[in-house]
Amino acid sequence: MSRLNVNIDHVATVREARRTIEPSLAAAAMMCEAAGADGITVHLRGDRRHIQDRDLYLLRDCVTTYLNVEMATGDEMISIALDARPDCVTLVEERPGEVTTEGGLDTVANFEAVKQAIETLRAKGIITSVFIDPEPSQIEAANKAGANQIELSTAYYAEATLGRAAFHPAGQRSTAHELTRLRTAAEHAAQLGVRVAAGHGLTTRNVGAVAAISHITEFNIGHSIIAGAIFKGLDLSVREMIDAIHRGRSTAK
Ligand code: PXP
Repeated sequence: MSRLNVNIDHVATVREARRTIEPSLAAAAMMCEAAGADGITVHLRGDRRHIQDRDLYLLRDCVTTYLNVEMATGDEMISIALDARPDCVTLVEERPGEVTTEGGLDTVANFEAVKQAIETLRAKGIITSVFIDPEPSQIEAANKAGANQIELSTAYYAEATLGRAAFHPAGQRSTAHELTRLRTAAEHAAQLGVRVAAGHGLTTRNVGAVAAISHITEFNIGHSIIAGAIFKGLDLSVREMIDAIHRGRSTAK
């Protein structure tokens, strides 16, 4: 089984473009759930460019499936999480000025901060996940820090599927290479008893091969679903992503 949490940050991006009240985040969350999503994910960024603090409380009230909040490890963020009580907090790296989360959280270099955040969150019954690159040292550090789950960054894989070598002056590795890295990482985490999620840059076209990795049990997908919703509506966009995951899953090895 693999679950889909829909990341609805970009519904808030449109709202914040006018600093107004629509489109409604609550309506979006309920529509995703009605379409079959297993959960809702939002990212509370330091610059509050889309999700606002009040959104977490609103979503906590109306999300009936599973609420996952992505955030950096600082004290301010952790105390907001303790107050808003999502089901899960995913710890992420945040670099000033980045367009989106660029890479996994370096859990080796930031071990003490990650461990401390995880201990604080777990003590209050919040599930913890760490967004990392598919590297053995990162998986081991996240496990040692006490994370319930890791979320493998599919950013390099997704970029490889686009074939935009011009965006990678240092050279781009192949889709097959990136898929092998994801599979190896997922197996490694599963052996340690850590749950495995994946996300970043996934679309209906490239998610299938990742869904075929049997140890990956959760996906967090946003941009492509919300982009699709502009043309075909949110309900259909979510359903098509769920279908694509299930089709990939049916070929799992
Ligand atoms: N997982 C994490 C940790 C992320 O930061 C993001 C982007 O906010 C996603 C998943 C979803 O990525 P995308 O919007 O490209 O589907």
